[in-house]
Amino acid sequence: MAVTGAARFVPATRDLGELAEAVHACKGCDLYVDATQAVFGAGPGTAPMVMVGEQPGDREDTAGQPFVGPAGRLLQRALDAAGIDRAEVYVTNAVKHFTFTRGRRLIHKTPSRSDVVACRPWLIAELDSVRPEVVVLLGATAAKSLLGPDFRLTAHRGEVLRLPAGDATVGLGVDPLVVVTVHPSAVLRGRPGDRAEAFDALVADLEVAAGLMGS
Ligand code: URA
Ligand code: SF4
Repeated sequence: MAVTGAARFVPATRDLGELAEAVHACKGCDLYVDATQAVFGAGPGTAPMVMVGEQPGDREDTAGQPFVGPAGRLLQRALDAAGIDRAEVYVTNAVKHFTFTRGRRLIHKTPSRSDVVACRPWLIAELDSVRPEVVVLLGATAAKSLLGPDFRLTAHRGEVLRLPAGDATVGLGVDPLVVVTVHPSAVLRGRPGDRAEAFDALVADLEVAAGLMGS
C-alpha cells in the first residue's frame, strides 16, 4: 500500500471532537494495522498549554487515552511539582498509534521518522484547534516532529523557542512559545541513582513553560 501520510484523513474542521472521531479511520502509515486503536489527545480544547509525547504505549493502546500508564504517572508528579494544573493542559502524542515489537510482551519501539512525519497533520490540527500559548515537547521524537530532524534536545532543553515556518508547520495558524524537555519515560529508564536529578531537571523545564503562560 502506498503510504501517503495522514493529511488526506484529517478533516478540514478544527472541531476537536470531530478530529478525535476521524483519527480512528486513519491509514496514513502502517501503524494502524497492529495497534488496538488510535489514541488522540485529551484535555480541554481551550487549554493554554499543549504537551506532546512520543506515541501511545501498551497501556494507552488498551485504554484509548494518552499518558495513563507509568510515564503518565511520572508526568503527573512532575506537573504537580511544577505547579501546573493538568486541567490547563491538553496532552497528546507525535504519533497516534502504538508501535511495538512482538515478544513475550509488547515492547515499545521508537516510531520511525516516516511514521512521525506521516502522523504530523493530526498534531498540527490539534495545535491549530487548541491554539495554546505554550507547547511543551516531551522528548526527541516530539521535538524532531516539529523542530526538524537535526534538533538537539540536550543542547536546547529548557530554552524558550518558536516553531520554524516550513514543512513541519504547514497549516498551523498559531505561533506558540515552545519548550523542549526530556520524555518522562527517560526519567523512569534512568539509573536509580540518577532518577531524582533527572526528575528535578524535568520539573525545572516545566517551570520554565509554566512561567510563560499568561505572559
Ligand atoms: N509515552 C508517550 O509518549 N505517550 C503516552 O501517551 C504514553 C507514554
Ligand atoms: Fe494515521 Fe498516525 Fe495512526 Fe499512522 S500513526 S495510521 S498517520 S493516526
